[in-house]
Amino acid sequence: MSGKKAHVITYGCAQNENDSERLRGMLLDMGYTLTNKNDEADVILFNTCAVRENAEQRVYSNIGALKALKAQNPEILIGVCGCMVQQNHVTQHIKNRFPHIDFVFGTHAISRFPQILHSATQQRIFDIAACNESLSEGMPHDRMSTVIATVSIMYGCNNFCSYCIVPHVRGREKSRSVRDIIYEAEGLAAQGYKEITLLGQNVNSYSEIPFYKLLELVSKVDGIERIRFISSHPKDVTDNLIYTIASNPKVCKQLHLPFQAGSNNVLSAMNRRYTREDYLKIIKQLKAKIPGITLTSDVIVGFPTETNDDFEQTIDMVKTVEFDMLFTFLYSRRKGTPAEKIEPVLAPDEIKNNFDKLLALQNEISAKQNNRLVGKTVKVLVEGESKNDKKSLSGRTDGGKIVNFKGSDTLIGKIIDVKITNAASWSLSGSVL
Ligand code: SAM
Ligand code: SF4
Ligand code: F3S
Repeated sequence: MSGKKAHVITYGCAQNENDSERLRGMLLDMGYTLTNKNDEADVILFNTCAVRENAEQRVYSNIGALKALKAQNPEILIGVCGCMVQQNHVTQHIKNRFPHIDFVFGTHAISRFPQILHSATQQRIFDIAACNESLSEGMPHDRMSTVIATVSIMYGCNNFCSYCIVPHVRGREKSRSVRDIIYEAEGLAAQGYKEITLLGQNVNSYSEIPFYKLLELVSKVDGIERIRFISSHPKDVTDNLIYTIASNPKVCKQLHLPFQAGSNNVLSAMNRRYTREDYLKIIKQLKAKIPGITLTSDVIVGFPTETNDDFEQTIDMVKTVEFDMLFTFLYSRRKGTPAEKIEPVLAPDEIKNNFDKLLALQNEISAKQNNRLVGKTVKVLVEGESKNDKKSLSGRTDGGKIVNFKGSDTLIGKIIDVKITNAASWSLSGSVL
């Protein structure tokens, strides 16, 4: 394989990023080197996301654009994997409309990638069986950072929120064994990693042991200084989990807790299994037991049953909680989900106005929350060069806020004191003490 290069392009969530680490790890094991340029790659692989339509459209336009490259160099192998192709209609579309795509495989076939790639040199391969293969352990990872790492602890989702494609493309929940998770965490610690983020679509629904006990066990791994976890579901936030975040010094004082909508009518139509009151009760407990906790959330604007009155309750929720950051999404109709059949009550321009209003409100709140840190000294785990300014370093507070500052490379991987001098909605800047 000497001299062959591969380019992996990733869309979607942290779980997809984690899958791409494994795909790149396998490519390196097969003797490929990695590139980020299509025109020098021998293998181009798109790891896709199906959660919203615009993510799918981008994939279609990007794979369409490679037709000329494949015509010039028929030896290149181009593949599409991930959540999008786990839908039959998408795979059929790729089969018929994009003959230059050599191989397609779904979220259940990742461990078969080397065989799929090998077979694709002979014929087109479509491997999207939703077979419940057992979880593959011990696969190599090509990680993006040497300081922070993600560890998937469970896959899939059982919740079937009425708008969401994830359970349809990722299958039912499956938890990894405690032993395999701890083994991976110990391996990361031995390589010098300082922070681990545990991943799952509903990470706190982990089923092998209560999730708070898993946090306790991971916190006993020597060398791991910080533990985060995403995404939590409100229905599984227990008193024990709140106590563990509050009392365990390695568990970061941060919770990403999607609420999706502020109105009980919409929450019920979404099949979210909690009420606005349940959600606010959890927030109240979190704020009481963990002063200064960073709270973030996901919210959907324009769910088809959502009226302007319902939307005002989302606004009210955001004002009440004062999240540090909010991931706001315009509702996207997904084929095969129950909500697909519901006609929207609001017109597109009304939904867009609501979306803009929510964004403006949250920007104000985020700036206010970040401004509270100006003048304070915070502990920052230094991750590396800042994305926007190569001359600065970047890291995160215990609460997960990004801090940029000037300093020497020798600080990378260390937890240091930084005095915050400036705040914006998305990040902080400061100086090393
Ligand atoms: N499992 C996590 C949860 O339920 O909190 C999040 C999973 S999903 C990958 C991330 C976010 O995408 C969701 O929290 C939701 O806000 C958003 N999302 C999912 N389906 C959507 C849709 N059809 N349209 C718009 N946003 C959607
Ligand atoms: Fe989608 Fe709901 Fe599952 Fe989250 S909990 S992945 S929003 S179905
Ligand atoms: Fe993630 Fe998108 Fe799949 S959000 S689980 S990559 S549908």
